[in-house]
Parts: sequence; C-alpha cells; structure tokens
Amino acid sequence: MSDLASIEERVLGGTTARRGDIVFATGEGCWLTDTTGQRYLDLGSAQGVAMLGHCHPSVSEAIARQAHTLALCPSYLYSDVRARFAEALTSVLPSHLPHAFLCNSGAEAVDAALKFARLVTGRPAFVSTTRGFHGRTFGALSVTWEPKYREGFGPLLETAHVAFNDTAALDAAITEQTAAVILEVVQGESGVNLGQADFLAAAERLCRERGALLIVDEIQTGFGRTGRWFAIEHANLTPDIICMAKGLGGGFPMGAIAYTARVREALYQGAHGSTFGGSPLACAAGLAALEAYRGEQLIERSATLGARMLADLKSALADVPVVREVRGLGLMLAIELRSKVAPVLKSLMLEHRVIALPAGPTILRLLPPLVITEDEIDIGIRAISAALRAASTQPPARRTVATGPTGPPTP
Ligand SMILES: Cc1ncc(COP(=O)(O)O)c(C=O)c1O
Repeated sequence: MSDLASIEERVLGGTTARRGDIVFATGEGCWLTDTTGQRYLDLGSAQGVAMLGHCHPSVSEAIARQAHTLALCPSYLYSDVRARFAEALTSVLPSHLPHAFLCNSGAEAVDAALKFARLVTGRPAFVSTTRGFHGRTFGALSVTWEPKYREGFGPLLETAHVAFNDTAALDAAITEQTAAVILEVVQGESGVNLGQADFLAAAERLCRERGALLIVDEIQTGFGRTGRWFAIEHANLTPDIICMAKGLGGGFPMGAIAYTARVREALYQGAHGSTFGGSPLACAAGLAALEAYRGEQLIERSATLGARMLADLKSALADVPVVREVRGLGLMLAIELRSKVAPVLKSLMLEHRVIALPAGPTILRLLPPLVITEDEIDIGIRAISAALRAASTQPPARRTVATGPTGPPTP
C-alpha cells in the first residue's frame, strides 16, 4: 500500500471499504487522475455529486472569487449571494414549493424534513419503503431500510418500512400517527428501482386523505439525474417537501429542503438551524451550478444521452451471461448481475481505468456526470462489456454468502 493510502487507512479507516490503493490527485470533467498520472473515467460522479463533472470551471471560479470576497455570513445576517442563490433555486423548483432551508448534506436535509413533518402534523411516526436509502444520521437512518446500516444503533424513530411499489401495504401502514411518508421516485442506493406511477400517485393521495405529509428524497435524483430537473416531474407528484443535496452545490457540500407554504407557516424562530448551512461559499457554488445546468442544457442532455446509453448498454450486454437486467432513467443506470459486483468493479478500475458504483452485492450502478460526451460513453460501455464478459467465465455467486462487494455498498 502506498504511503498516502496507508495514512488514510490508519487515521480515517473503519467505516468505508476502499477499492484498491490508488490515490487520486486531480479531476477534470469525467476524468480523475491518480498521483502517478494515470487517468480514470468516472462513471460514478463521486457518488452522484459531480453532475457537472469534476472541477467545472465556472463553479471553481465562483468558489475562488467568493473565498476572496466573503466566505462566511451566518443565517442571522443577510447575504447578497445567498439571496441570489435562493431566487435561482426557486426558479427551478416546482412552483408549489416556494420555501427552502439550506444545510450541508443529504442526511441533514432528510433530518430537517422529518422534523418539519412532525412540527406540521404533531404526529410522531414515519412510513418509508423497503430498499429506500435516506442517509445515516439518526433521523435519516430511521427511515433508511437496509437492516445492516440500522442494526446496533437503535432505538431509532418509529418507522414502518413498506414494500416499495406495494400500494396495499402502504395503505395499511399510514395511520393517524403518521407524520410523513418518505420515498425516492427512483431508488438509487438499492439499484435504480423505478417507482410505479400508481404506487407514487397512491402515496400522495393517501397522505392527503390521512393528514400525513409526503416527503420525496431527490438527493440522488435531483438536478437532472433522471432527465428532468426533479424525478417527481415524471410522476406528476406534488409532495409537501423535497430533499436535495449531491448535484445542488455543483460539487460543494450543500443540502436543502424545499417545502410548501403550509410547512412554512408551522415554522418558528429556532425550529431548526445550521452554522454552516447556506454559507456564501456554498451559495456561490450553487448559483454557478444552477447556471451551468441551465446554460449547458444538461437536463435535456441527461434525458437524451441517458436513453442512448441505456439502449447501447442493452445491446452491448445482450449476450453476456452474467447480466440479468439493464435498467435506468436518464443518466441513472443499473446493470443487475447474476454474480457479485465487487470483482467487476475492481477489474473495471484496475484493468480498464473506469470507476463505477455498486448498489447492493450484485448491482453495478452508473451515475455519469451529465457533461459526459458520446465518445466517453462509448469508452465506458466497451470497458463494462469487457469486464462483464470476463466475469461471465467465473463461477456464479453463491446466494447464501452475503459479504457485499468489498464491504458495505457506497451510496
Ligand atoms: C437518496 C439519498 N438520500 C440520502 C442520501 C444521504 O446523503 P449524504 O450522504 O449527503 O448524507 C443519499 C446518499 O447517497 C441518497 O442517495
């Protein structure tokens, strides 16, 4: 192991499984470069964050400029750049969600949404879905499904996890104690599982009928990942709250929730807060990111390139024995395997210099930057096809051994 990798492992190790001991030093567009100068195609966008590619010039410039102008301005003081960011964010949000709270990460956004739902309804409990992922702080962890993430951390918030896309189960789970239902329109961490239109519509209807709020987690799907600004647009949903992070700050750590006038009315001073949330640096990055999504037509690009990539992957992998299914929406794609994904991810990175993500033990997930070119897509598909063809010559996975890829999957 290299010196730098071993320092990271010694000081910071323990919670994250690493893939090889390559140390990365620079990034540009869809490419990362390691300390030896070797380039890697990043089809995971650094966990779905680098939607604009690595070090997008206008985001980097905006951060640098703001760092030399005013980096800190707490929320009890007004900030010029925060106001401009708030206005720009409102212009891309659905019109029924005109208010927002700014924080620093996805889990923080989910926690804020859960708190606000309790405040509005005066109710304690939550309903979420099997295979849903919402983060790992105590609130977010409560509504996250994967038992191995929750085990050992209880007691958590009272949550009923109903089978995703099972409307009858959802109907049975929402009671007069339910503050909110929280779900993803397309589940990311668990393998790009698409919510069915009737299930999503029923979630909204049942929440309205029973006085619970509907919270949609757009942390992975927001900002064009699925080919629309927000995945709720595919299903014509009008949730009470949406959660955002990943693509929001163009790479700068940033989270937010957007909510209705009804939620806004329930808030009081001190109901929630964040020291770092909405810092001028984050807002400058977010403002530049929103301009880039719009100016470079990246949302439309995600829809077009995503459809092309899905079709090309399906035809490239049609005769590969280890492939069970290829699915996706926009530039959010999954290849479900009949074998473990860990060796494929390792071979992709070490032999083909392509970085992809796992989603559970047998699913390969692709979240390419929205700026990816057709040539880069072709490079990625050729590498994936070669790695999966090689994997097809290996013995199939034994279903009883659930060791995961190289440890817990990284959302
Ligand atoms: C849908 C979803 N919700 C919540 C989170 C948690 O976000 P964070 O890691 O920023 O806390 C993630 C992270 O992958 C996610 O994909």
